[in-house]
Amino acid sequence: MDFKIAILPGDGIGPEVISEAVKVLKVIGKKFGHSFHLIYGDIGGGAIDKYSNPIPEETLTTIDNSDAILFGAVGGPKWDDPEAKSRPEDGILFLRKSLDLFANLRPIKVFKSLIDTSPIKSELLNGVDIIVVRELTGGLYFGSPKKRWITSEERNAVDTLIYSEYEIKRILKIGFELALTRDKKLASIDKANVLETGRLWRQIASEISKDYPGVELEHILVDNASMQLIQNPSKFDVIVSENTFGDILTDEASVLSGSMGMIPSASLSFLNTDNKSKKIKTSLYEPIHGTAPDIAGKGIANPIGMILSVALMLNYSFGLQKESQEIYKTIETILSLGYRTKDIVLKGEKPISTTKMGDLISDFLIQ
Ligand code: IPM
Ligand code: MN
Repeated sequence: MDFKIAILPGDGIGPEVISEAVKVLKVIGKKFGHSFHLIYGDIGGGAIDKYSNPIPEETLTTIDNSDAILFGAVGGPKWDDPEAKSRPEDGILFLRKSLDLFANLRPIKVFKSLIDTSPIKSELLNGVDIIVVRELTGGLYFGSPKKRWITSEERNAVDTLIYSEYEIKRILKIGFELALTRDKKLASIDKANVLETGRLWRQIASEISKDYPGVELEHILVDNASMQLIQNPSKFDVIVSENTFGDILTDEASVLSGSMGMIPSASLSFLNTDNKSKKIKTSLYEPIHGTAPDIAGKGIANPIGMILSVALMLNYSFGLQKESQEIYKTIETILSLGYRTKDIVLKGEKPISTTKMGDLISDFLIQ
């Protein structure tokens, strides 16, 4: 089969890890007889430098002509001026919003051979397999007003946490649907004791749960959820949460897997069939880690989160389950053989480089 993929490396370690993901993609193409047409585009800080725009027209055209997007990471100290008109992050936020990628799936799996890498006690990590469904196009990230202003006395700023019933319903439904395909447990995260949006969220979750009698729904306050995630992570199956809470909880949850560099994500607009006016758009796949400016260019970043994002793309965008599984299994093998990048290495062990990890995974795949 033929697929067109927009490759958006971005900043920092983005280009380094995406090269390894592309390596793996090419191997999959060769092995299974698919042709992947890759079209590269600029986004983020690099695009600001080149076009004064974090998401230039050229990149949007590339995306328009693609079946899926593979995205690295954006941002960095160079573009961190708080007074700057545009920021690298605006590039990815624009794509999420304009493509209506409201459902961000973040699988938190603990590979057996990495259990000792996590700072969390190993007996708590057995069998941890969580998927976080993060709402991605609403909440504090996008609500208006969103601005800064100066009065005679001081500087002020506002962000707005706003959700419509429609937005809450569609993300909760994804949570319930996913739970049905797994252990049938859904943890719905909110801050209903303080926030109106949290109370609406909780109410709607309870209403929808009537349509899913087979799914066990638990409402958990976000502060408490953050505690339970490290105290008793194996209790969780599917977690569904609003945008900002999901951002924070998934960085925390990544510690269970040994490193933030291990976690992929899929940003989808599927199940959005009631919104016929918008065409079902291209999905986007990215690791949850950022640009890691402190290690960028050193060749030591972990490409696994990025490579697993390719596996998610094969599965969700192209329906290539077998190919997707094969990537996952190969990574499991490589890790069980003791190969580690710096972030997941145990004391005294010698880490391998970003490219070596990509090479090993590719070589094992082709066998
Ligand atoms: C993430 C990142 C982004 C977010 C940034 C880069 C805008 O932290 O994907 O988790 O906050 O969503
Ligand atoms: Mn984040």
